[in-house]
Amino acid sequence: MNANRPMAFVADEALLDDLLKLAVAAGCDLERVPDAAAARHSWPTAPLILLDQKGVAECVAAAIPTRDAIVVVTTDPEPPELWKQAMQIGAERVITLPGAEPWLISALADALEGPASHPGKVLAVVGARGGAGASVFTVAVGLTALNAGENTLLVDCDPRGGGLDVVLGAETEEGCRWPDLQLSAGRIAATALYNALPVRRKGEAHLSLLSGARKGEGPAPDAVSAVIEAGRRAGDVVVCDIPRQLESAGLSAIDRADLTIIVTPAELRATITAKQLAQELQTRGATTQLIVRGPSPGGLRADEIAATTGVPLLTTMRPEPHLAQSLERGNFNPRTRGPLTQAARTTLTELAALPTKPRRGQGGLRAAS
Ligand SMILES: Nc1ncnc2c1ncn2[C@@H]1O[C@H](COP(=O)(O)OP(=O)(O)OP(=O)(O)O)[C@@H](O)[C@H]1O
Ligand SMILES: [Mg+2]
Repeated sequence: MNANRPMAFVADEALLDDLLKLAVAAGCDLERVPDAAAARHSWPTAPLILLDQKGVAECVAAAIPTRDAIVVVTTDPEPPELWKQAMQIGAERVITLPGAEPWLISALADALEGPASHPGKVLAVVGARGGAGASVFTVAVGLTALNAGENTLLVDCDPRGGGLDVVLGAETEEGCRWPDLQLSAGRIAATALYNALPVRRKGEAHLSLLSGARKGEGPAPDAVSAVIEAGRRAGDVVVCDIPRQLESAGLSAIDRADLTIIVTPAELRATITAKQLAQELQTRGATTQLIVRGPSPGGLRADEIAATTGVPLLTTMRPEPHLAQSLERGNFNPRTRGPLTQAARTTLTELAALPTKPRRGQGGLRAAS
């Protein structure tokens, strides 16, 4: 038994041959087991379990308990009986080869990486009005987490936001942007993703950035969820910049976020739009908190804004000194004791304290082909 090897209980020899080739492509070694007794032995520790029709039937007959990360593999277009048995064993998916090969290679690669000791948390940030300060705050959270030694992934979900790479001052850096990523499988291995992205490092910690590229369409919702889940599996803090007009890609991130922050300037009109946005987010089931950014030209107080919008106030921020200059020069790095860093710290503390949001489809049965 080897705790790091995915296990295959597959009687169909042609299918097993295919799986072994896919495992080689993923750079992993597959443990093959001949019967339910051997399967039971590796069952608790294998990071991923692959079963064919006979394998799943024998595991069900042997009353092997259900667990995470069971995948049923078939070359038939999913016979109904197989779905029933897959459900009984608690399989995460039924996949049909060869169509699902890219998905399976990623899953095998992920299994090799092993699960993070703590799955990461996901934060979404959205502005109450244009220019509210959402993108700046997103990057400030990323840099604050990096400085605290946390691995962090910044995800730009706003195709018209000018690019988070520009905010970070990384627009000339090599590495993939959204249009370069070809995500078809609904899942991406964290290692493959991180090797492709621009990165900042501090000691052992990294801040990786998946930015828009000021061209083309925005990311597809499935691509957003694949990237966020890769970051979460890697144990990173994932911080997503969400466009104010909530469309499918932004909603995909919000559905996965453990906390959604609305950044609002302390102004009447922004308060009105923050209220509207908050209602949309709450309908979506988002856990939402408010950050109020000064100055307050009309004297509106943060607690009044929170009461009007119906969103709990997380914290307030005074204007960040010299921000406009540092953004223009491409050397944005908020001061350690400045208002942005303090608000970012408060947010990270709150995020860490919140329970991880259950995800749609988690533990459920889905097809990939
Ligand atoms: N914390 C802050 N303190 C002072 N000024 C700020 C702060 N955050 C943002 N700004 C100012 O507001 C501008 C817009 O910020 P940012 O791009 O983050 O807003 P946004 O909400 O992402 O806007 P968009 O609607 O374009 O996505 C910045 O260029 C900066 O001049
Ligand atoms: Mg923005």
